[in-house]
Amino acid sequence: MSPWPYPYWLAHRGAGKHAPENTLAAFRLGAAHGYRAFECDVKLSADGVPFLLHDATLQRTTNGHDLAGERLWDELAQLDAGAWHSPAYTGEPLPRLNEVAAWVQAEGCCLNVEIKPTPGTEAATGAAVATACARLWAGAAVPPLLSSFSEAALQAAQAAAPALPRALLLDALPPDPVARARALGCVAVITQHRLMDGALCTSLHAAGLRALCYTVNDEADVQRLQALGVDGLITDAVDRHPPVEPQRPGR
Ligand code: G3P
Ligand code: MG
Repeated sequence: MSPWPYPYWLAHRGAGKHAPENTLAAFRLGAAHGYRAFECDVKLSADGVPFLLHDATLQRTTNGHDLAGERLWDELAQLDAGAWHSPAYTGEPLPRLNEVAAWVQAEGCCLNVEIKPTPGTEAATGAAVATACARLWAGAAVPPLLSSFSEAALQAAQAAAPALPRALLLDALPPDPVARARALGCVAVITQHRLMDGALCTSLHAAGLRALCYTVNDEADVQRLQALGVDGLITDAVDRHPPVEPQRPGR
């Protein structure tokens, strides 16, 4: 297997349970807990600006509503993405990918950029996010890891920025996950944690693919997955899981 430059522990949505998900406040909180790698969700505004948001719509995590991808960035930039979480975060804005790229690199951290397209914009989002990442991390020692549940987004990312590493996200197991990941030129597969077992982990490693899991919050799940030899865990529980690197062969 090729070298794997990413820390074992990644804070999910930038530590987005204890601070508002996918905001810079969440990244700062994860870093305060010792995290050096983060996962976040990135989509496009109507005018093509990559920014962080999980849902297709705005209402769960901002004071806006309806489809985020139909709003211009100037409109999105006015929204409050923190008050929904708790009063202390009132006024926290939606971040653009370029702000997060600057913060992550200034802190010497790594980023897993989940390409989270507004439905119907899979290829365009994959291409634009990959192009932006290639520019924002040009010359960086560790590139961002691009991931997506959308194979169309990953294909477009591969075409736009072939040198950036990619991971296939799985919330259900296809008949041959190794073949799907290979067809997309991926370096890793990231599964919902209950899908990972010894056979899958072994087959991924045998194919030269890294095996990672989301969203791993309970200690029993951490122990099970570490015993399997997975290569990384994405967690919300940054307060319960200090980001200690396990001893792993092949590093
Ligand atoms: O990238 C791993 C994980 O974030 C995928 O699920 O829905 O939290 O984006 P979701
Ligand atoms: Mg995600």
